[in-house]
Amino acid sequence: MSVMSVDPLLAWRGEFPILDTCTYLVSHSLGAMPRRASTYLQQFADEWSSRGVRAWYEGWWEVGRTTGDLLAPVLGVRPGTISMHQNVTVAMAIIASCHSFEPPRNRIVMTDLEFPSNMYLFEGFRRYGAEIVYVKSPDTMRTDLQALLDAIDERTVLVPLSYVLFKSAYIQDAAAVIEKAHRVGARVILDVYQAAGTVPLEIERLAADFAVGGSVKWLCGGPGAGYLYVRPDLAPALEPGIVGWAAHAEPFEFARGAIAYADAPERFQSGTPNVPSLYSARAGYEIVREIGVTAIREKSLRLTRRLIDLAKASGFRVNTPEADDERGGSVIIDVPGAQAVADELIRREVIIDHRPGAGIRMAPHFYNTAEEIEHAMKVLVEVVSAR
Ligand SMILES: Cc1ncc(COP(=O)(O)O)c(C=O)c1O
Repeated sequence: MSVMSVDPLLAWRGEFPILDTCTYLVSHSLGAMPRRASTYLQQFADEWSSRGVRAWYEGWWEVGRTTGDLLAPVLGVRPGTISMHQNVTVAMAIIASCHSFEPPRNRIVMTDLEFPSNMYLFEGFRRYGAEIVYVKSPDTMRTDLQALLDAIDERTVLVPLSYVLFKSAYIQDAAAVIEKAHRVGARVILDVYQAAGTVPLEIERLAADFAVGGSVKWLCGGPGAGYLYVRPDLAPALEPGIVGWAAHAEPFEFARGAIAYADAPERFQSGTPNVPSLYSARAGYEIVREIGVTAIREKSLRLTRRLIDLAKASGFRVNTPEADDERGGSVIIDVPGAQAVADELIRREVIIDHRPGAGIRMAPHFYNTAEEIEHAMKVLVEVVSAR
């Protein structure tokens, strides 16, 4: 029996050239580039070259909406609810700018395991009256759900919440947080960056107020394609302060003074769309949609389980939850001198990364083989033993 008949997802390997050159286990950081991305980038260049300014009204101007609509089923949201931005930071800032931070409701509540740029951004909102509350976690693997729920109260405006933590791949209980936030009149910004493309998402069913993420990782979409979902019933009342002419209801009227907002999703747009990045992102979105995140997740659980078993059998501590329903797509393996170990693994063509205080991060995706998992662990054991 061929490998392909055992694992039909391996038929995709030919679409990702880098897989022929190394053991690529870093899709939590930069997903492999699909060949199709080159085709779309070439298409962009050809349109620019041959159509010039006419390309704007032949598809470029609407590219944010069309790209968002392509992504919508992967996030579990309806079409017309996603705008595209440079990155998560910009998308978060646009949402923050829709809110005021006047006491008594001026708190932004998050755990101390959020991605740092979420902290840096909201720290900056102290100048507008925001108070930032960090909920302490018991360790670097899990957050304290009860402490987070207790910290969300009538003083809370926003709760930025990673669906999957970047440092441990722990899946947080977003439903419980959203339920509590809504009970006290607060809103949740779900950061789905470490989930989208590897963990099935039902953002609309969860009733998340906002969701943000990017395309670099599991979506294999490349940089510059951040996305922002806004709950459709909430959107018409929101007035972003960080705004530009692409968010105007009639942008080509070039009206002066205060903006007349477009409907969503364009009302959350800033200026000129990032056309080449959105063309490149298309390839990954199409492939993830075609395979389906349910099939990707089933395989991810199988390969991450194998990684955990091998790591434990080799005597390593694993800083990722072992329960399937608590674990995203990466496995974090604690080794002494993780930075130097990571450098040596990469020198030996096992492409992974590391995070301070957590360990080596390995991330199988739909295109990886079981043999690659075995090989990466064998090399890890060799490198650690040789030190
Ligand atoms: C969970 C999470 N949120 C946010 C970010 C940062 O996103 P961006 O660089 O698009 O602002 C990352 C990047 O690794 C991340 O893992």
